[in-house]
Amino acid sequence: MEFCGIELAHPIVNGSGTYDALAARRVFGAAFESEFPFAAYVSKTITLAQRAGNPPPRLWELGQGMINSIGLPNKGLERFVSEDLPAYATLPAPLFVSVMGFSPEELEAILDTLADRDEIAAFELNFSCPNVKTGNIVGSVPAEGSGGISGPAIRPVALAHVARSAERVDIPLIGMGGVECGRHAADLLAVGAALVAVGTENFRDPAAGNRIVGELRALGDQAKAPQAV
Ligand SMILES: Cc1cc2nc3c(=O)[nH]c(=O)nc-3n(C[C@H](O)[C@H](O)[C@H](O)COP(=O)(O)O)c2cc1C
Repeated sequence: MEFCGIELAHPIVNGSGTYDALAARRVFGAAFESEFPFAAYVSKTITLAQRAGNPPPRLWELGQGMINSIGLPNKGLERFVSEDLPAYATLPAPLFVSVMGFSPEELEAILDTLADRDEIAAFELNFSCPNVKTGNIVGSVPAEGSGGISGPAIRPVALAHVARSAERVDIPLIGMGGVECGRHAADLLAVGAALVAVGTENFRDPAAGNRIVGELRALGDQAKAPQAV
């Protein structure tokens, strides 16, 4: 399939920050190369300056997902380019780099540095994070006092938002929120998403991407009509 001019093997990608591909390669070895779970790899969000992130605890498991207050820890642009980009370039899938600027100028500086890098197929712009001060505050519990809810708890809301967005815009959308199986991915595709991202489910099942692709294919024509949340 094709997404924004990029050829992809299937419509399943990872949610930014929910799958460390470099750590997964160390753990899964050869199987990682032959059974890479995503059609494209979305990096953890990077910022201009290095960030330590929020104090622990940062993750809180819920019956229906989790609350996180990670706070965008990352090496910053310079070390991302020198240390991570060469490694990401060897992944068996196109690389989407997630970037966040705390001002338009900061975002411009990041994109200016990365724009000509052949290793990068696309940029994902992170415009809002529920656990840094520019974001919307949702939930409570972690050390920071608040966090973002992810996983099955948000699936019905996410499906409704993707459906409404697809009616209003003509750009390709990546639907996400609580996807655990092929049926959930099929529902997002049926309401207008071009791709589907899997996030929290990766923590439970690091091979979830591949499993969901298989389940989606097995649904065949049944995938086309939205069914349940
Ligand atoms: C631990 C954790 C870290 C995340 N880090 C990022 C991030 O760095 N950048 C980003 O845009 N989204 C981040 N997200 C949001 C996910 O990419 C995804 O949008 C969200 O979790 C909803 O999908 P899900 O319900 O399948 O998890 C993070 C989510 C979790 C749970």
